[in-house]
Amino acid sequence: MKISSNRLDRQFQTYREEYLQKIEEVLNSGWYVLGNEVQNFEKEFAQYCGSQYCVGLASGLDALTLAFDVLKIKEGDEVLVPANTYIATVMGITKNRAIPVFVEPDLFYNIDASKIEAAITEKTKAICVVHLYGQIANMPEIMRIAKKHHLKVVEDCAQAHGAHINGKKAGNWGDIGCFSFYPTKNLGGFGDGGAITTENLEIAEEFRMLRNYGSRVTYYFERVGYNSRLDEIQAGLLRVKLKHLDALNEERHRIAERYLEGITNPKIQLPKEAFGKAGHIYHQFVIETEDRDALMTYLKEHDVETKIHYPQPPHLSKAYAELGYHPGDFPITERMADRVLSLPIYNAMTEEEINEVIQVLNQY
Ligand SMILES: Cc1ncc(COP(=O)(O)O)c(C=O)c1O
Repeated sequence: MKISSNRLDRQFQTYREEYLQKIEEVLNSGWYVLGNEVQNFEKEFAQYCGSQYCVGLASGLDALTLAFDVLKIKEGDEVLVPANTYIATVMGITKNRAIPVFVEPDLFYNIDASKIEAAITEKTKAICVVHLYGQIANMPEIMRIAKKHHLKVVEDCAQAHGAHINGKKAGNWGDIGCFSFYPTKNLGGFGDGGAITTENLEIAEEFRMLRNYGSRVTYYFERVGYNSRLDEIQAGLLRVKLKHLDALNEERHRIAERYLEGITNPKIQLPKEAFGKAGHIYHQFVIETEDRDALMTYLKEHDVETKIHYPQPPHLSKAYAELGYHPGDFPITERMADRVLSLPIYNAMTEEEINEVIQVLNQY
């Protein structure tokens, strides 16, 4: 039995009729970009996150890029960001010519709140947290520090739709929550898409202006903006999936629990939950091991496909060579990059598939 790292077709099949009906509805409507579906999705997703406002955008990277723009973070300003993240988080900062200041992660792969204050300088304007792999960062502590130092907080929630601490959800802690609806995300669409959440009407209005070429009134332009619009088909399909998101997250949680109970191989380090069980949405189930590449090869030979999130931290990527970092600058992050491996976890994964992954890992 071959087990892929992901099977996006399975969740499509689960809600096939609802999706197809929505596509037909949108095509029949004659309105395809920024219409009723987007408006309704924005309302429903804001409500889901417990936020006042949501603005639909074209991608997660756009959400981040526009967020720092809206917060007036500009050339030379410093933004604290976890050293171990997907590179888009860092690009959102540097697209605004601001400087990313990397902070090492904690045991839960999120920015280590106890290391934030040491990284603050007089140029620091914001903290960009990432809720990596589906687990919220230590937001109570991070918000305390941000308040004390008058820093803005941007949350990268691309991997955390519905993740929470005692019911307070991702995207609802800082000034702006940035979401991606890339197909693999827990709330993934069928193409690119993104959104922000905020409590601040002025911020929401700025995003609405910027996403549409800098226009608030049709054909009158107040700023050089972006084209970052969410289309009606994506918004409609996301509305369908949003209705099932809690069930889909719950299902991932059940798979994670099976792994946590079933994988007993002492060579494998299992992920830890920082704030109890309920709040983690297991976007990824990430294990660590000493000789990661050997384990990955062994799994492949046994028909279990895995992925590495991520093999190279942003500070060592060619894209950021100009920042002048070297191997060894962020040892905790670099060690994780050498050790992490993401196991298959997806909606409608069968009992047989889960058992097979556990068995193959325990025989390693
Ligand atoms: C943590 C994180 N931030 C940002 C992004 C960027 O989102 P997108 O691909 O929609 O631009 C992603 C996913 O790709 C991500 O995983």
